[in-house]
Amino acid sequence: MTKALDGVRILDFTHVQSGPTCTQLLAWFGADVIKVERPGVGDITRGQLRDVKDADSLYFTMLNHNKRSITIDSKNPKGKEVLEALIKSCDVLVENFAPGALDRMGLTWEHIQSLNPRMIVASIKGFGPGPYEDCKVYENVAQCAGGSASTTGFRDGIPLVTGAQIGDSGTGLHLALGIVTALFQREKTGRGQRVTCAMQDGVLNLCRVKLRDQQRLAHGPLTEYSQYGEGIPFGDTVPRAGNDSGGGQPGRILKCKGWETDPNAYIYFITQAPVWEAICDVIGEPEWKTHPDYAKPAARLPRLNEIFGRIEQWTMQHDKFEAMEILNKYDIPCGPILSMKEIAEEKSLYATGTLVEVDHPVRGKYITVGNPIKLSDSPSEVVRSPLLGEHTDEILRDVLGFNDNQVDQIRQSGAIGGVPDRIAAE
Ligand SMILES: CC(C)(COP(=O)(O)OP(=O)(O)OC[C@H]1O[C@@H](n2cnc3c(N)ncnc32)[C@H](O)[C@@H]1OP(=O)(O)O)[C@@H](O)C(=O)NCCC(=O)NCCS
Repeated sequence: MTKALDGVRILDFTHVQSGPTCTQLLAWFGADVIKVERPGVGDITRGQLRDVKDADSLYFTMLNHNKRSITIDSKNPKGKEVLEALIKSCDVLVENFAPGALDRMGLTWEHIQSLNPRMIVASIKGFGPGPYEDCKVYENVAQCAGGSASTTGFRDGIPLVTGAQIGDSGTGLHLALGIVTALFQREKTGRGQRVTCAMQDGVLNLCRVKLRDQQRLAHGPLTEYSQYGEGIPFGDTVPRAGNDSGGGQPGRILKCKGWETDPNAYIYFITQAPVWEAICDVIGEPEWKTHPDYAKPAARLPRLNEIFGRIEQWTMQHDKFEAMEILNKYDIPCGPILSMKEIAEEKSLYATGTLVEVDHPVRGKYITVGNPIKLSDSPSEVVRSPLLGEHTDEILRDVLGFNDNQVDQIRQSGAIGGVPDRIAAE
């Protein structure tokens, strides 16, 4: 069966998390992703947070499936020649180096265009043009600069970062969309183009509801925020809203049976207006269906603490899965707080390929997240991440057409490192 991006070749100059998530997605859609790494060193994440001695870390393996690895020293003259040959035979170059690093390698946009006018050059940087454009950026910096941290956490606590990697993986997703869009446009124009995503912009895009609320503040208090019901005045900026729902339907995280000992015995409960009457029946407050203080959404807003307190008395009698089962019968929107352990044991996620068990020659079996985007005509199978330089010779021969002599010469120059790691590992 063919895949959506069959025939697309990506020169993958990415490292750490943001860029690799993008190229991993493209690889799952069928692109041939050639990951360029520094000889003997590789992507720094290969050795970060290592759990199994001498094996590539989960950090690396879980972000680099379905790719091939070639080692090239981009600062070695012969290495530059190899890179330029690859630029001529690839469709897209993806990178997330610190600002200016690609130019310092001699790979300016102009130079790349002169080598291959069809090439799409896709980059992730921390910031777009402006006061911070030269800064190096990691996940949590982007969460802070993109508006997420100031709006996450409780009003009376410090700003919080979230466990979802919205700065890195979120920007990788944005970049992947930019790349396939540029490939689509190239079908008509025949030209490549630059695709750039700043992590600050990616986070802000995901936080747009908070910029919405910033502007609503000019017209009065944010009535769906708990602090409104608590009579606490709003300042001139969007406050942290704890677990209040980000939409117009009030929601909270409520305790379930076992909360005293299980840190995840909680459920997210939304008091969606159309199912209010069902909620009243389930929790045993049928008179709230008609009582003027509770019957209509606007009347409930100043009483959310009382209402959720009463609902919690009900949720505390059930474990989160029981509560979920009962509430779903009435279409009441709710969700159990699932721990990573519970998620890793959830069979239905394996059935859909969202979770996959992968075998790796050095570290053995591990679980990873497969492609979350399902295409009916382009199946994704997850192939283990490459060892450092595992495909160097194969790429030099099959992609660039070099013969044994030429490969030997390149190796002698020091441009691709010594013996491939695959052979060394055997
Ligand atoms: C993530 C980040 C902070 C890491 O910084 P870093 O570890 O110092 O890495 P850099 O990107 O600066 O690259 C380091 C050097 O390695 C060099 N290098 C990388 N691959 C190489 C190769 N194959 N051969 C030779 N040199 C190589 C680069 O040319 C650069 O050298 P220079 O500074 O002399 O120009 C930085 O890359 C960055 O800000 N990236 C953009 C934002 C981003 O994606 N952040 C999220 C990461 S999850």
